[in-house]
Amino acid sequence: MSDGPITATHDVLLVGGGGAGLRAAIAIAETNARLDVAVVSKVYPMRSHTVSAEGGAAGVFAADDSLDEHAYDTISGSDWLADQDAVEAFVQEAPRELLQLEHWGCPWSRQPDGHIAVRAFGGMKKMRTWFAADKTGFHMLHTLFQRSLKYDEVTRYDEWFVTRLLVDDGRVHGVVAIDLISGRIEAIAAKAVVLCTGGCGKVFPFTTNANINTGDGLALGYRAGAPLKDMEMVQYHPTGLPFTGILITEATRAEGGYLVNKDGYRYLQDYDLGQPSPTPVLRSMELGPRDRLSQAFVHEVEKGRTTDSPYGPVVHLDLRHLGEKLIEAKLPMVRELCLQYERIDPVTELIPVRPVVHYMMGGVHTDIDGATPLAGLYAAGETACVSINGSNRLGSNSLPECLVFGARAGRVAAEYASTASGPPAVIVDQARDEIRRLERDLLSGEPGTERVADLREQMQTTMEESAGIYRNGPAMTKGADVLGELQQRVRRVRVADPSRAFNTELVAALEVANMLDVAECMLQSGLQREESRGAHQRTDFPARDDERFLTHLLVHRNADGTARVERLPVTITRWPPGERKYGR
Ligand code: FUM
Repeated sequence: MSDGPITATHDVLLVGGGGAGLRAAIAIAETNARLDVAVVSKVYPMRSHTVSAEGGAAGVFAADDSLDEHAYDTISGSDWLADQDAVEAFVQEAPRELLQLEHWGCPWSRQPDGHIAVRAFGGMKKMRTWFAADKTGFHMLHTLFQRSLKYDEVTRYDEWFVTRLLVDDGRVHGVVAIDLISGRIEAIAAKAVVLCTGGCGKVFPFTTNANINTGDGLALGYRAGAPLKDMEMVQYHPTGLPFTGILITEATRAEGGYLVNKDGYRYLQDYDLGQPSPTPVLRSMELGPRDRLSQAFVHEVEKGRTTDSPYGPVVHLDLRHLGEKLIEAKLPMVRELCLQYERIDPVTELIPVRPVVHYMMGGVHTDIDGATPLAGLYAAGETACVSINGSNRLGSNSLPECLVFGARAGRVAAEYASTASGPPAVIVDQARDEIRRLERDLLSGEPGTERVADLREQMQTTMEESAGIYRNGPAMTKGADVLGELQQRVRRVRVADPSRAFNTELVAALEVANMLDVAECMLQSGLQREESRGAHQRTDFPARDDERFLTHLLVHRNADGTARVERLPVTITRWPPGERKYGR
C-alpha cells in the first residue's frame, strides 16, 4: 500500500525487538506463515535491554520442585497482587519455553553430568533458575534473534522510533515512526500492533536500565487509550553499582555472597529474613525478596551503619570467600564489570552497592493473552502488566515472562490479524497530523526554550524524592505538582539540531515527553493506593490493607490529558492472601 504518508502495510507490527518482541515475532510466523510481520525497534535488536540480563530465568525443572511451589513463591512474592490465573499459566509454560530455547541453541550452563544447571534466586523456595553463567540475557537474545532470522516473513525496521499509534474507533491500525538513519517520518499500517519496548527505569536517576528504557511503549499505549496498571509498583534491585547503577546480579548472592554494613556485619539478620549460615539458605537473608532487601538498606542508612561514597551511602557485597575459580566460572561478567567500572577485583575486594531502580511491575494493562482493551493492540514483557508480578517481582521471573507472554501475545495477535480488515482511510489524516507535528514542533529549526537535560534531571530527582523505596502522600503530591510543571515546559522543548540523520536531540526530546507521562501515572496511582504492599511502602499508611486495596489500579488518560485512576479486582484462584514469611 502506498497511500500518502503510509509507506508500508503489515499484518502484525511489533514495537520493540528484545526478548518479548522477538519471541512474539517467532510465534506469529509459526502460527500463520502467510502473515507479514514487522519488527520496529529504536535500536538494533541485539542492543535491546534483554541483552544485559544477568542472573537467569526461572522454570520448574528439578524433580523435587513443583509448579505449585513456583506459583506460590511468585504470588507471595507479589504480596498477593498478582493475578493467579496468569501466574498458573506462566509457571506451566515457562519450563517448555526454556527447553525450547535450548533446542534453538541457547547455551545453558550445565551440571558436570551434562544436565541443565539451576541456581537459587531471591524469594524462591527451590533452585529453579536456569542460567548461562552471568550473561543469560545475552545468550537468550542471541538465540531468539538467530531463530527469528529463519522466517522470511519477518521484516525488520532497525533504528526506527515510533511516535504514535494510529487508532480509529477503538481499533489500532498502525504507527507513525521516524527512520533514525535518514530522518524520514513515515506511517506503517498494521492490522495488529504489539508493544514490547521494555521498561522505563530512566524515569529515575539511579537505575540498572539502559538509556533506551524510556517507557516508549507505555506512553504510546496510554495516549492511545489503553490504561496503565499498577504503575506505583517500581522495583529497586538491592545491588547496583553506586555511580553507574550497573546491575550486580542476585546470582552473586545465590552463589553465596554476603551483604555487610560498614561494621562488616551481615545486617539482614536484623530484618526478619533469617539468620546467617555459612551456605545460602533459600528464601533467607541474602536470598530474601528484593523489596525487603532494599527496605533493609534504607533502615541501615537511618541507623548510620552504611558507608559514605561520592554517590551516596553504600553497603558492601562480599564475594571473596567464593574464590577466583567459582567467580570465573559462574560470575565472570560481575568480575569484569567491577574491574572496569569500579577498579575493584571482587576476588580480593568488597564491592560497594546500593539499591537501584531495576524493573516496573506495572505496565500496559493486558489480559492473560497480552490483549489490551483496544482492539488490535497487545503488549508483552516488561511493557505489559498481565499481571504475574503484582507489587514485587521475583528475580529471574522476568526473562521467562518475556518468552511465555511474548509467545501468547504473538499467537493471539496473529489470530486477530488473520481476520481483521485493512486500515480505514481516516488514519491517513492522523498520520499526516503526526508528521506535521513532528516537523513543525521539533524539526522546524525554531528551537524552543527548554533543555531536554534540565527536564530529565528534574523529573528524575523528583521521582527519587517522591516515589523512592519509601513514599508518603505529601511527597507524592509535591512530586505530581512538579511533574505538572514539567509537562507544560516539555511543550517548549528545544531541539536546536534540525538535521535528519541520527538526530539524537530529537529522540531525547521525544523520550523525555514519554517518561513524563509514565512518571505522572506512577504518582497518580501511588497517591490512590493508601496502603503498603511490596514495593509500594507508604510511611503514612504502613500496613497492607486487603480490605480496601486487594485490587489493581488502572490509570486512564482523560481527553484533556489528565489521569484518572480506576480499580480492577485481583484474580485469586487457589492461594488466599496470607502473611509473607521469609527466613523461616
Ligand atoms: O540480579 C539479576 O540477575 C536480575 C535478574 C532479574 O531481574 O530477573
